[in-house]
Amino acid sequence: MGFSQEYRFQGIEEILVSGPIVPAGPSARRPYCNNGPVTRASLDKQPHEVASMFDDVAERYDLTNDVLSLGQDRRWRKEVAKAVDARPAQKVLDLAAGTGTSSLPFARTGAYVVPCDFSQGMLQVGKERQPWLPYTAGDATRLPFRDDTFDAVTISFGLRNVQDTDAALREMHRVTRPGGRIVICEFSHPTWAPFRTVYTEYLMRALPPVARAVSSNPDAYVYLAESIRAWPDQPALAQRLGKAGWSRVAWRNLSGGIVALHRGFKN
Ligand SMILES: C[S@@+](CC[C@H](N)C(=O)[O-])C[C@H]1O[C@@H](n2cnc3c(N)ncnc32)[C@H](O)[C@@H]1O
Repeated sequence: MGFSQEYRFQGIEEILVSGPIVPAGPSARRPYCNNGPVTRASLDKQPHEVASMFDDVAERYDLTNDVLSLGQDRRWRKEVAKAVDARPAQKVLDLAAGTGTSSLPFARTGAYVVPCDFSQGMLQVGKERQPWLPYTAGDATRLPFRDDTFDAVTISFGLRNVQDTDAALREMHRVTRPGGRIVICEFSHPTWAPFRTVYTEYLMRALPPVARAVSSNPDAYVYLAESIRAWPDQPALAQRLGKAGWSRVAWRNLSGGIVALHRGFKN
């Protein structure tokens, strides 16, 4: 499907409780931090630090992703699209959508996708690149949408950065319609122990130097490595989905467990 001004989320105003749709136009980057940009969030994931860190990497975020994942990110996104299985005119929330690269596969199916994020910098870069998408400012733990709105909610490489994971899982459940689904794509834990060791070494040692060559903020990639190590493994995340109200929870490993897709349904 090609995109044009005709790509419109029908009735976006009706599903929003509050929060602006990000307008196209000159960007206002980094409005969240009064003391200059935060280059690297700490592991307690203070929302203003996380938002500021992403404001700071926004411009080169997609390029850095491609380089650091050796192009694997494109394959992972295809698998997410298959798992979400969005149909024409279905409503899909792509939470922590950043620049909206993760939203594009859903838009291509003819679904109405809402990219939502709390980094103004990421949203503005996205709006400049894909002005037809209804970028919406919002915090994952207090979503600006009505109950039972979306056919599917999804979050790619975002949940790990949210300070209160369980609150975000409950909010995603609240805005999903009964029968709807959640798909989480997140870095996880390689399942084969020898590979896990090599991977952890690669992450901790190679990521920041490589990031130095391509990213506007290499320090952010030290945070990336640390936050992946501290993230719950596949069964532990599945359990948290269940506690937040999701049923029939299952997961699938990609690239040996470097990434995992978790899926669940709302009864
Ligand atoms: C690694 S990026 C992922 C972007 C995109 N989903 C992708 O796959 O490329 C993580 C995003 O999560 C967003 N984020 C983190 N915590 C958030 C929160 N509490 N509410 C909304 N967005 C959040 C950040 O601003 C950032 O844009």
